[in-house]
Amino acid sequence: MHYFDYKNGELYAENVSLRDIAAQVGTPFYCYSAATIRRHIKMFQDSFKGRDALVCYAMKANSNQAVLTLIAKMGAGVDVVSGGEISRAIKAGFPVSKIVYSGVAKTSAEIRQGLELGIHCFNAESEPELERINQVAGQMGVKAPVSVRVNPDVDGGGHEKIMTGKSENKFGIPWQKVDKVYELIATLQNLEVVGIDLHIGSQITDLKPFSEAFERIGSLVAKLRGVGHKIQHVDFGGGLGVPYKNDNDIPPHPDEYAAMINRVAGDLGVKYIFEPGRMIAANAGILVGEVEFVKHGDGRDFVITDIGMNDLIRPTLYDAYHDIKPISEPQNGFETRIVDVVGPICETADYMAKGRELPIFKQGDLLAVMSAGAYGAVAANTYNTRALIPEVLVDNDRFAVVRKRLEVEEIIALDIVPDWI
Ligand code: LLP
Repeated sequence: MHYFDYKNGELYAENVSLRDIAAQVGTPFYCYSAATIRRHIKMFQDSFKGRDALVCYAMKANSNQAVLTLIAKMGAGVDVVSGGEISRAIKAGFPVSKIVYSGVAKTSAEIRQGLELGIHCFNAESEPELERINQVAGQMGVKAPVSVRVNPDVDGGGHEKIMTGKSENKFGIPWQKVDKVYELIATLQNLEVVGIDLHIGSQITDLKPFSEAFERIGSLVAKLRGVGHKIQHVDFGGGLGVPYKNDNDIPPHPDEYAAMINRVAGDLGVKYIFEPGRMIAANAGILVGEVEFVKHGDGRDFVITDIGMNDLIRPTLYDAYHDIKPISEPQNGFETRIVDVVGPICETADYMAKGRELPIFKQGDLLAVMSAGAYGAVAANTYNTRALIPEVLVDNDRFAVVRKRLEVEEIIALDIVPDWI
């Protein structure tokens, strides 16, 4: 569910016309809907009402400070994966007690940063990482709260580049080895076990892989408690998919996800932690651009826009499908054409859609790439020396530029030409 709809023949973000925003900020730009973000956070929180549960938004999906501030104000926590993200979390007002820190290669400096602040927990992914956390905590004279990320060897069923829960993926500790790792922790004096966690992948549209993985965790909790570990929380990670297409493949609702979790983990007597990213942000954002040219090739038509793969890499990297809508609503009985929607970058892989049946576009038309709020702006880059595009947040009938366009002069100014050239 989102709040990007046609009104009076034009696409709106809540109560603001996207054409008006385009006129003021130029194209391309990302536009986020505050009401959609709030709705998704609340939906997730409500699904676990009455339970000791904390939603820790995975900010890697969209870490704009305005988006983070809005989410922090709703009482949510946050999942971070770098020192940079810890700094963003603090600046946005997340309490340190609601920060969980994931990631396979935490540096000593990042661990120190987390310990100085007193974050809730480090989700540790390997034995050498646990030893490093122990060492840094020892130097600081503190105990580090840790949880072990378990790799349950479960296939989430989505795109292979975003699966994390199979034994061949670099993430977590194989579930058969987990009790050995907790034995190691018992010998490391500056660590304190607080939980156990997992994250099996992203854009998962079926509950089965989740329940398979969570059942494994359930039996591990009992086993670890049996040998004296205090497992206070289970962090179930993120991964719940979103509808990118208007077809029948609708991912499970958070209520169904919650019912499954209560069934497999309801009796464990643990606090639940969740790390949803995409589910919160994807459908809360769109990418608006303009048609530069329409080109009729040999057996193929190209709609060439000002949106490049540097602005949204998902179609290129994961063959991801994003709906494309004209900003002007097509009239009843409109004609369509099968086209490739491509960008200005000098790469064949620079496209938003291939062989897609769409209303007929012409030069100067505005269009929206839908469901671009997660893993969009955060993964943008300046390839081909293209300015980083702005981000806009709409809340009801007002909007603000929440990240300004990074101009070409600013990009060039980052380079240094040594005087010996
Ligand atoms: N927790 C951990 C430890 C993660 O690694 C991730 C995502 C999440 C939570 C949030 O997962 P979500 O609820 O968003 O599925 N760039 C890719 C997605 C990469 C996901 C990385 N990890 C894409 O555009 O599809």
